[in-house]
Amino acid sequence: MKIITIVGARPQFIKAAAVSRKLQSHPSIQEVLVHTGQHYDENMSDVFFQELEIPKPNYHLGIGSSNHGAQTGRMLEAIEQVLQQESPDWVLVYGDTNSTLAGAIASVKLHIPVAHVEAGLRSFNRRMPEEINRVLTDHAADLLFAPTTAAVENLQHEGIAQEKIHLVGDVMYDAALDYAVKAEEKSLILQKLGLTAQNYILATIHRAENTDDSSRLQALFTGLAKVSQNIPVILPLHPRTRAALLREGLSENISKSLRIIEPVGYLDMVMLEKNAKLITTDSGGVQKEAFFYRVPCVTLRAETEWVELVQLGWNRLLPPLDATDVASGILEALESNSGNEVPETLYGGGLATSQIVELLSQNIGIGV
Ligand code: UD1
Ligand code: UDP
Repeated sequence: MKIITIVGARPQFIKAAAVSRKLQSHPSIQEVLVHTGQHYDENMSDVFFQELEIPKPNYHLGIGSSNHGAQTGRMLEAIEQVLQQESPDWVLVYGDTNSTLAGAIASVKLHIPVAHVEAGLRSFNRRMPEEINRVLTDHAADLLFAPTTAAVENLQHEGIAQEKIHLVGDVMYDAALDYAVKAEEKSLILQKLGLTAQNYILATIHRAENTDDSSRLQALFTGLAKVSQNIPVILPLHPRTRAALLREGLSENISKSLRIIEPVGYLDMVMLEKNAKLITTDSGGVQKEAFFYRVPCVTLRAETEWVELVQLGWNRLLPPLDATDVASGILEALESNSGNEVPETLYGGGLATSQIVELLSQNIGIGV
């Protein structure tokens, strides 16, 4: 049985690393890895292949950055060629990026069944490019691997056939377990940055709604700068956000107050997350990782797809509309109690990847 895995952006390398380890050890599955090239900087791509020991992609499409239409269109064309050449039994896509959507559309048009990891997540905000990507991918897919019960319910409400939906848990939790020891052993990031546990806030920002809107960007970074007067704020800067800060003329001032660093590899990120007093982010993956390490989180958005963490008190939403509110919201969260105890099974208890591989192997030849 041949499976083509399509990845392209940072979080997909991490998710696919966990699943690929299991696929590779399955006796009757051959995985062919396609990298669209959506992310291409060394610290946004290669570092993950090296430290997570992901095999070199069989195809690197080299698509790079562009507007949504051009980027997705180029991917679609290049992926179609690979699929025609390889004739896989399944195509496996992850998450909600343009690489996900292109993979799903190219496959379904060639009548190749699609499996979607992280199906059913919804923000109900159609202005997010990710929301469009998720909805369309879910409706093109034949196997939908949902990480949470909320995701299952979203799919049911959209009328997706029950037999296609499988609650498997979150593959990022499996990744966190898989690489926990390696991160402790290999990462020297805390020593390198002179940080001690519980003495800093970790921040990440990259969402289009925050970086592409000048007033939100200002509110966010001015707010974080205020917070840094009380406690150091470490911010591994996504290239999209670096470009936005330069465009808005904010770079110089910001780097005087926040500790801006280059994007880090996954092992360093795990250590930065685990040891932070608080995490503030607009990333989907980082919100959950904060919870995996039981670090309180403030999400710099008006909504989240991971609603259970807000309900359980581990995460709070803070839309970045005003700098003073951003600062006071984060400082208040620093002083608050952590969330409620949660069953180990909330995100699948580390069994998501095994279930995905098992379901794929049982479903040879079904679908469109
Ligand atoms: C993409 C995903 C987003 C995901 C994020 C993970 C879409 C629509 N968005 O957002 O869902 O959360 O990845 O990080 O698919 N850039 C570089 N070097 C790189 C990659 C990007 O400089 O290696 C810069 C370019 O200026 C580019 C910009 O970042 O235009 C945005 O990159 P893009 O992949 O389009 O979107 P992300 O914001 O990374
Ligand atoms: N991450 C990383 N280095 C960084 C920032 C993030 O390894 O400098 C990891 C993080 O631990 C998580 C994933 O990247 O596993 C999240 O990706 P991102 O925030 O880019 O995207 P999202 O999850 O929002 O789609």
